[in-house]
Amino acid sequence: VEEYGRFADLIAADIAAGRLRSGQQLPPQRTFARRHHIAASTAARVYGELVRRGLAVGEVGRGTFVRPARTVDQVDLEFNFPVLPEQAALLAPALERALRHDVFEQSLRGGPTSAATREAAADLLARAGWRPDPGSLLFAAGGRQAIAAALAALVPPGGRLGVESLTYPVLKAIAAQLRIELVPLPMDADGLVPRRARVDALYVQPTLHNPLGITMSTARREEIAGLGLPIIEDGVNSFLDESLAPLAALASDRVVVIDSLSKRLAPGLTVGFVAAPGGWADRIAATLRSGTWGSAAFALDAATRWILDGSAARIAAAKRLDAAHRQELVRQRLPAQGNPRAYHCWLPLPSPWQADTFVAAAARRGISVTPAAAFAVVPAQAPNAVRLALGSPPLDALAGALDTLASLLAHEPDLVEG
Ligand SMILES: Cc1ncc(COP(=O)(O)O)c(C=O)c1O
Repeated sequence: VEEYGRFADLIAADIAAGRLRSGQQLPPQRTFARRHHIAASTAARVYGELVRRGLAVGEVGRGTFVRPARTVDQVDLEFNFPVLPEQAALLAPALERALRHDVFEQSLRGGPTSAATREAAADLLARAGWRPDPGSLLFAAGGRQAIAAALAALVPPGGRLGVESLTYPVLKAIAAQLRIELVPLPMDADGLVPRRARVDALYVQPTLHNPLGITMSTARREEIAGLGLPIIEDGVNSFLDESLAPLAALASDRVVVIDSLSKRLAPGLTVGFVAAPGGWADRIAATLRSGTWGSAAFALDAATRWILDGSAARIAAAKRLDAAHRQELVRQRLPAQGNPRAYHCWLPLPSPWQADTFVAAAARRGISVTPAAAFAVVPAQAPNAVRLALGSPPLDALAGALDTLASLLAHEPDLVEG
């Protein structure tokens, strides 16, 4: 390697290691030559080589600068918590009132949940003629904690929980921690297939299933409720489609409904809900306490205010419109499956694409998506597909990312790499 090439390599290493930062000016060529005891013509070739490699830019009369790193805009199609730009402005006024000294003082004390909070939460969760009993509602830190408490109360360690063969990934982690065995059950186009299984309970998502987006028909709901098993019904996505009553309306003594504000409102100040049959509420209250999964009083106070001042309903309504809009962007570009009301969709991959190579190819273009294996109870049996979460990026960034994914799919993996 010629002398100038070795110097160029050294500077390239300094750039790669961050010792020279993007935009930083390199010393004038004459200074560089003197410092390294090389000819001025060699220094000129070193700088020329850096420009040729795309590592530096030379500006006549101004010198040579480390080229600003080419950043790919990151588009997150993995994180599934929609946030509307206007929601902070909608939610702030209620908190301003909550921070009045006398009021804040009260919520800092904690204490028992008020009747007003119970009624407000029951109103929030009510849909299609069903309304939970405010007196037996329980409150958790979030949806995940609500699921953990319900599982711990209904399935003993070593017990078996029947789940849709593709399910919410955190459920897998919670079950593993509680030493509960997951039993994957078959699904069809209408969701979980109603079959008797040797399990202690079922965990199901009848509305806008994560990740497939399936909403079970009324007939299927009746069949699942009719199995006679204890059911944990995850309704975290149900605010996007309130047209069908939960399974709890069909088997009120056997179904625990889980819900949360993380998607309806915002994950940063959230509450989880457990609507349990009277006979189970005490057991779940006990696991909420022993698991330390309960809610903070201030979060409950904020939630109550957001429900009562109408901002929770307005944000949920705006999110329903936003989700439909985002699904339309998908429909115009990709052969994705799912439900036009959901904030996520399911993209089966044409061969020879494999989920892993597709995830990697998307990541190289700054787009994160989730492979089916993350949702599969048995990852080795995962279908060849990815989930796209649509709620995080601004609309134009989403459209651009969907275009990029569509162009990936239009080519063979080997041809798009590199
Ligand atoms: C199906 C499902 N259930 C529950 C949750 C968890 O809710 P939270 O974020 O309130 O813990 C999520 C969050 O992604 C989810 O997708």
